[in-house]
Amino acid sequence: MTERLHDDDAGIARAAELLLSGGLVAFGTETVYGLGADATNARAVAAVFDAKGRPHFNPLICHYLDAEAAFRHVDAPAVARELAARFWPGPLTLVLPRRVTCPVALLAGAGLDTLAVRVPAGEAASALLRRVGRPVAAPSANRSGQVSPTTAEHVLAGLDGRIAAVLDSGPCAVGVESTVLDLAAGRPFLLRPGGVPLADLEDAVGPIGRGITPLAAEAPRTLRSPGLLVSHYAPLLPVRLGAAAAGPDEALLAFGAAPAGARCVFQLSEAGDLVEAASRLFAGLRWLDDEGARLGLVGIAAMPVPLDGLGLAINDRLQRAGAPRR
Ligand code: TXA
Ligand code: MG
Repeated sequence: MTERLHDDDAGIARAAELLLSGGLVAFGTETVYGLGADATNARAVAAVFDAKGRPHFNPLICHYLDAEAAFRHVDAPAVARELAARFWPGPLTLVLPRRVTCPVALLAGAGLDTLAVRVPAGEAASALLRRVGRPVAAPSANRSGQVSPTTAEHVLAGLDGRIAAVLDSGPCAVGVESTVLDLAAGRPFLLRPGGVPLADLEDAVGPIGRGITPLAAEAPRTLRSPGLLVSHYAPLLPVRLGAAAAGPDEALLAFGAAPAGARCVFQLSEAGDLVEAASRLFAGLRWLDDEGARLGLVGIAAMPVPLDGLGLAINDRLQRAGAPRR
């Protein structure tokens, strides 16, 4: 059963407690309801994709209490600081390079070297973020393919029984998602129109690019051709899918009971748990690349992962990693 919490002190405290113990809590922001997880907890982040039924690992927005907290995790140039001073808290999301020390789970950013950060407005959202004291990763709180929810009832219509709680703060004031601006590629680039009008942003920082971008906002579309997404992490070693075992020159990405004999093994989930596997996928690919290169291996053999639940998204990601390079 999904708990329905009021946005009073007791409700906020309960929501924070659930988040800190790895639970999923939907909460109202000024734009739409978000499906929140502790962004530093890879298991919880994986559970977000599971609850939404997403066939891909889209990167998620990380929500912070204030700009200071956000800019501890990403590199913020002057233009980001100006925009933050003017529009935060509010419906603006900034995509910026992750710092090496950033504790946010790799899966939250879908393995990208950038992170989307935002400081939402709205008392309940701020109170929750203050209480949690950590970034909260949150996509819109709808099942994949459905429209974004702007009331707690909408959230429950899609996710009742799939999440720990919904924190009801009434209808969302803005009602459309945040504007997503990419500041990682040099000049500002609009990835998604939203709650802050483009004209207001251009007033603040001058011309903003839009149209075709290497870092397109619609990740599911562009991720299909990994070469298009310049900063997306693709393993350097080629990935061979559906492998029963690793060849002598291959590293092994294992799922479930692994055959003996591989020189370099990363276990996604010994128990065959898809949520655990998803939470370890991006870290695993990076590790195998580094270790594999160190040992002079030439490829990654990936054991089969079933297609149910998060298995679809895991296979989708492995297929992209295994696709021929240009
Ligand atoms: O108003 C909103 O933004 C709501 C509330 C809950 O904050 N959230 C929301 O999240 O709409 P979601 O996951 O439905 O949309 C996030 C968008 C997607 O288009 C995603 O591809 C893009 O932000 N995005 C996230 N991280 C990114 C990154 N590192 N680089 C490029 N795009 C990114
Ligand atoms: Mg959405």
